[in-house]
Amino acid sequence: MKDVDGIPAVAGGKPVRERMLPYGRQHVDESDIAAVVEVLRGDWLTNGPAVTRFEEAFADRVGARCAVAFSSGTAALHGAVHAAGIGPGDEVIVSPLTFLASANSIGYCGATPVFADIDPTTLNIDPNAVKKLLSPRTKAVMPVHFAGLPCPMDRLLALAAEANICIIEDAAHALGAEWCGQRIGALGTLTTFSFHPVKHITTGEGGMVTTQDPERAAALRRFRNHGIEREVRQRQGTWRQDMVAYGFNYRLSDIQSALGWSQLQRLEEGLVRRAVIAEQYRAAFWEMEQLIPAPTGAQARHAWHFYPLRLRLEMLWKDRETTFEALRAENIGVGVHYLPVHLHPYYRDRFGTRRGLCPAAEDAADRLLTLPLFPQMTDQDVSDVITAVRKVIRWARKS
Ligand SMILES: Cc1ncc(COP(=O)(O)O)c(C=O)c1O
Repeated sequence: MKDVDGIPAVAGGKPVRERMLPYGRQHVDESDIAAVVEVLRGDWLTNGPAVTRFEEAFADRVGARCAVAFSSGTAALHGAVHAAGIGPGDEVIVSPLTFLASANSIGYCGATPVFADIDPTTLNIDPNAVKKLLSPRTKAVMPVHFAGLPCPMDRLLALAAEANICIIEDAAHALGAEWCGQRIGALGTLTTFSFHPVKHITTGEGGMVTTQDPERAAALRRFRNHGIEREVRQRQGTWRQDMVAYGFNYRLSDIQSALGWSQLQRLEEGLVRRAVIAEQYRAAFWEMEQLIPAPTGAQARHAWHFYPLRLRLEMLWKDRETTFEALRAENIGVGVHYLPVHLHPYYRDRFGTRRGLCPAAEDAADRLLTLPLFPQMTDQDVSDVITAVRKVIRWARKS
């Protein structure tokens, strides 16, 4: 039995756990290893049939017509912004409460990221804020499904249709999520995913772009392979590989694709387990007035990439940093997602962005703590997180 009212480890008490529990962790099983070994024994290590098999299975899972694999989620974003036809002089409206890669991908194409504030209830981009920022230079909106909760896609798609611009969804957190029964990956013009080890499935490093548009898919395939038009070689049957556009080496290997395909077979069970853990957190935290549990949505299937807990700092003597340190001292590997992109030194210097630009995102970011959430967490792990949060908040609260 744990001492819930005990002294926090940061103040000299005994930590809730002896070993650090990370906020996310990959799960690689024997079937994954066998799938990778099979490729290693075969003829193709890259550019072979395992890539196609993974792409087809992925497209099928998210309900998209085409899926194009990339070497990372960041490369996938770069490809998507390129395939949306975005270039110098263009603007893309993006959420500031995201990983840097979302906004960076806009800059890679020479365009300007424009930060639209979030809805403080959902932590996702606010369509009203997007509407106010639309300009003749706006070429796309990039919603980020924060923590795995889908953005209000009906409103964003309507806005985009009216303004005749693209929607590039950053779904790095949202593999398996659904909006009004429709799967994320088949809604926007282009949707990107990441297979970093903390994500729902992993290929070590890797990413995917999905689209309903075969022409954009062809542009993505060229972009990930030096701008080479492969069809030319196939048609002519020669050694020639004609480069028809600027491109990169952003290919995902067969080794990685075999791992991704194998992981995809277990996606659903992982999503179910993630939802169970999130519900246990909600049930434990909703009655603690110092805490704001993670938002959920009646119209959405949440993918629960992580659990964003917000602190009501007005009710605490301790600030977020001290609370963070106190949870770490309990060996709970909390994180903070994110410092809003517009507050990073590079963005401040390059685009002149400042605090005050997106007040809701800034306020949320000051209160956020990411709690561990991954399918292999045991019931004891979940209980340890709850115990540690209760212990630390009782120590930190004003009354
Ligand atoms: C919202 C978001 N977008 C993009 C990325 C980039 O993905 P990757 O790390 O696979 O390049 C991440 C990765 O953490 C992310 O969280």
